[in-house]
Formats: sequence, C-alpha cells, structure tokens
Amino acid sequence: MSSSTALAPSTAPNIIQGGMGIGVSSWRLARHVARRGEIGIVSGTGIDSVVVRELQEGDPHDRRQMLADYPDEEIADHLVERFYRPDGLPADEPYDLLNMHPFEPSVRSQRILAAATYTEVRLAAAGHEGMIGMNLLAKLKRYTLPCIYGALLSDIDIVSIGAGIPLEEARQIPKLAAGEPAALRLDVDTSQAPDADDSYAYRFDPADVLDAPPTLDRPLFLPIISSDALARIMDAKLPDRRVDGWVVEGPVAGGHNAPPRNKNYADDGTPLYDERDEADLEAIRSLGKPFYLAGGHGSPEGLRAAHEAGAAGIQVGSLFSLTDESGYPPSTTRRLIRGLHTGEIEVSTEGRVSSTGFPFKVLTADGTLADAEVYERRARICDLGYLREPYLDEEGRLMGRCPAEPVKTYVSRGGAPEETEGRACLCNALMANIGLGQQRGARAEPPLFTGGDALEDLPLGSAEDPQYDADDVLNYLYQDVRPPRVSSPLRRPQPAD
Ligand SMILES: Cc1cc2nc3c(=O)[nH]c(=O)nc-3n(C[C@H](O)[C@H](O)[C@H](O)COP(=O)(O)O)c2cc1C
Repeated sequence: MSSSTALAPSTAPNIIQGGMGIGVSSWRLARHVARRGEIGIVSGTGIDSVVVRELQEGDPHDRRQMLADYPDEEIADHLVERFYRPDGLPADEPYDLLNMHPFEPSVRSQRILAAATYTEVRLAAAGHEGMIGMNLLAKLKRYTLPCIYGALLSDIDIVSIGAGIPLEEARQIPKLAAGEPAALRLDVDTSQAPDADDSYAYRFDPADVLDAPPTLDRPLFLPIISSDALARIMDAKLPDRRVDGWVVEGPVAGGHNAPPRNKNYADDGTPLYDERDEADLEAIRSLGKPFYLAGGHGSPEGLRAAHEAGAAGIQVGSLFSLTDESGYPPSTTRRLIRGLHTGEIEVSTEGRVSSTGFPFKVLTADGTLADAEVYERRARICDLGYLREPYLDEEGRLMGRCPAEPVKTYVSRGGAPEETEGRACLCNALMANIGLGQQRGARAEPPLFTGGDALEDLPLGSAEDPQYDADDVLNYLYQDVRPPRVSSPLRRPQPAD
C-alpha cells in the first residue's frame, strides 16, 4: 500500500486538527486528537520562545524530562541551566529572551530551535500510536529547517506547511532525514546594496547538531494550499512523490488567509474574495493524491460535503482552538466562547494587521489589539522577530526588519513608511494569547485572537456554560461518520518507496 492509497477516503483519518501557532494547537490537544485515531498537528511557530518562557514559569509541562533524552545534550543542558526557574517568575519580572534567530545562520539558535521542537513533538506523541504532525509557515524560512530537524529527531509522522508555496521545503525534507545539509532560498531586499550578490540561502547542517547524524524516517508531507493552480504547479515541479496529499484551505479559515486572487481590497483593507478564490476540487482530485478541506468545514455537514467532493476529510482549527486542551488558558477560552455566543465578539478579516502581508482573521474582543484604544496605547517594539524580512543594509550585511516595529526603525532600515500602517506585533500578541506575554513595566503585552468565520455560529458551549473539550468537537463532527478504530491506518513512506 502506498502512502497515497493509505490516505484513501475509505481508510484515512477523517479529521486533521490543524496546526495553530503560537502554541494554540498545543501538544496536549494534538495528543488527544491523535489518541482518537485522527491527526493531531502541533505548531513549530515560535516554539523556541514558548519553551524558554515555560522553563521560566517553572516548567509546567516537564519539558526537562523530554530534554533529558535529547541527543544534543549540551544544548539541552544549556536551556535548562539558563532558563529554568523552579519557582517561576515574579509577576512583574519580564521574561529573559533568546537571541533573535538571525538570517545568517547561528548554529546555537538552530540547535535551540531543534531542541525546543523535539520537546513539543515528544510530548504530543507520548503514550499512543496515533499520528502527530508539525505545522510551519513557508514565509518564515529561517526557522523551517532546524524546526523540521528537531521534529524528525522526535519521529514526527507528518509535516504540513502553509502561508506560501513550500516547493523547496518539499525537496529539503528528505535531505534532512538522510542527515544531509539543506538550504532554503531567501528572498532578500537588496535595494540598498544594488551591487551585492542577490542570491541568498538559509543553510542548516544536521552535523552541527549531532556528530553523526542518523538516517531518519521521512514524514508525510502535506502542503496547505488555497488553489488548484498551486497544487498543479507543485505536482508538476515535484514529480517524485514528495507530496503525500493536500490541505485545501479557503478564505474563511482562522489564522492567515491567502490574499484574494483578484487583488481587490476595500478602502479599510478588508480583502474582497470572489469565486476565483474557490479551488477547483475536481482539478485537485485529478492529481490523484488525497486531500483535506480546511476553512469552514468544521461541522458534520462540512465533513459530508468534503467526502462528497472526493476529499479524505477535513482540517479543522477554529473549533479546536477553544477546547480545554488548546494552548489558551481556560479563562481565555471561556471568555471567547461566551463573547462569540452573545455576539459581543465577531470575526473580522484584516488586510493590514499582519506583517506577512497576508489577510489575518481577527476576533474583535475588548482589551486586545483589535480594540483601537489598546492598539494605539501599545508602544511599538520588536524583540521576538519571527516575522522579520531579510534585507541588505548599505554595507551589504544581511539584516531583518518588520513593518510592525517602531516606524522610525523600520524606515531607517530602508522600509517604506506606508508599510507600517495598521500593523500589529503578532509575535508578542500571540505569545500573550497563550499566557506567555511579555511584561513591560506595569503593562503586559496585549493579546490578539484569531478564528475563522464559522465561529460566529459556534455550535458548542453556550453563553451560560462557555466550555467544551476536544472530545466534544470530535463527537460533534462524527455525527454522520463512523469514528476510526484506534489503530492508525496511515503508513509513512519507507526508504524503498
Ligand atoms: C487560532 C488559530 C491559529 C492558526 N494558526 C495557523 C498556523 O500557525 N499555521 C497554519 O498553517 N494554519 C493556522 N491556522 C489554520 C488552521 O490550521 C486550519 O487550517 C483552519 O483553522 C481551518 O479552518 P477553520 O478555522 O474554519 O476550522 C490557524 C487557525 C486558528 C483558528
């Protein structure tokens, strides 16, 4: 049985619990879903900062136990010695930060990221035989390779990558599994140093992590795409079975969305989608690989419609994001569930808020950056830097800048001032969402929540009882289908495949 027939609709899991960064699709959520025979995906985005902040909070998930098994012992010891605070931090003390991950690779940053990823996947995979995946954003090139390597060392089953065209990533994963060096091209703004060479790549060598990198299993690879055109391009350029299936995500999904194909935006920046943004599922089906539908499919009807369209199942994020098992603190899920049921919180598609330039779904909750007053009051600061984009400064040095950083800084780094308008610091806000926000003097970093359009008709929980768990989501989705028998029908590609 090839991996693609193993994902055939009759036998494949019906449900992928989508990757949700930063830390929303927590190891606990992924583990729970995988235990039920479906696919649980953890997020690699910002995972190094999550781990060092948790260590400073007294290590509530016992990451130290996972680090104790990590083969790069020196970096595991370093993380514990440098960041672990047995009694946690006093409420007004800011977190100690990692050095920002540079565009010119720093082996130390790479080793830390690989180790942090390893702990997340190991926690998610503990105690069951189900499938665990790792989600990454193609836009965040410099984190991808070390993160995938840490995931490979923890025997990850699936890698899923969205927010871009993960063509090169597909080619690099087998190299990493073979213990070979890998590289991803960087799209660098060289306008300030026009004579400089303009071909840059971010490199990662497993031999910098381990003296003798072993041969590791290649995980299944599921790109997240928004159109059949992208699937066709990837299929044509990757003829050698490097893609094992597709997740086809529409613009009503939570998190980032693909920009509208017609490039139409309202005056306030809201993207205006039309029928061209609907993928031709027949065209995707004709490529002969299993596919999952994401974005507004998190219902029994959505699952049925997906099966009728020939999909193996659905990828669901928003409903899972508000479960007891998600990375949000319980007080947050309760507040969001209640607000969604009373109509106080709505879903808005924001064209400018994310520095990635992609539209981003925002929950209009008070006290968050969606509230104009809170947004205005926050002093811009960029100290995590995940969304920085590479540029060459006048001396030809490879640097990074983010349009959500202080406007003056961004402009001094050669950025256009209009690019900064309306941007929010997603890095700090998303850390605040999961209870790991930075303290700045008397103020804490404000959160900013995301969720898909379907949350406006949330079928679970209620204003009076604003709570539900991952089993509630699965049982709701299973209304018309038989739950899987709990032995995973998927099989990873073997070296001979
Ligand atoms: C809170 C939240 C965070 C998300 N973060 C990511 C992410 O980091 N990477 C990604 O590929 N998709 C992300 N998504 C999208 C989900 O993985 C999933 O594809 C999507 O939520 C499915 O549509 P739905 O929102 O209608 O359930 C996120 C979704 C939510 C709700």
